[in-house]
Amino acid sequence: MRKTAPGAGAIGFMLVIVIAIAAATMTKAAFAAPPAPNGGFVWKDGPEVYTKVCGYCHEQGVGPVIRGRALPPVYIRNVVRNGSRAMPSFRIAEIDDESLTKLAEYISAN
Ligand code: HEC
Repeated sequence: MRKTAPGAGAIGFMLVIVIAIAAATMTKAAFAAPPAPNGGFVWKDGPEVYTKVCGYCHEQGVGPVIRGRALPPVYIRNVVRNGSRAMPSFRIAEIDDESLTKLAEYISAN
């Protein structure tokens, strides 16, 4: 008697390998960090940037108090991007736009 589908076993084996590779690749992609918009650095949220960057001066009396003054977010963003006299400017690679927007809203509201 002749076999009707010679090599079916081999094809099945290859399929298993292909599926295994695809699954491994997808798992890797699922755990990879989300791509940063603008190719910049992405902060968790406004309070994190404030504590780790701004607080260094603004909580230590080096810079004036900026929280609790309801400073307009657009003004805060301008000062951060362009600097202002003794205040250094921060580039997009240091604080990306989205993080800066969240930061400015946080400072303005708190
Ligand atoms: C290296 C110290 C330093 C760091 C870090 C810093 N600042 Fe400043 N900032 C200053 C100083 C000093 C001034 C006062 C500038 C002046 O008028 O000479 C200032 C002024 C400001 C002002 C204007 C305040 C006003 O009364 O009009 C804002 C807004 C501000 N900073 C926001 C920020 C934010 C937001 C961050 C974090 C991303 C930050 N700064 C990080 C030193 C710093």
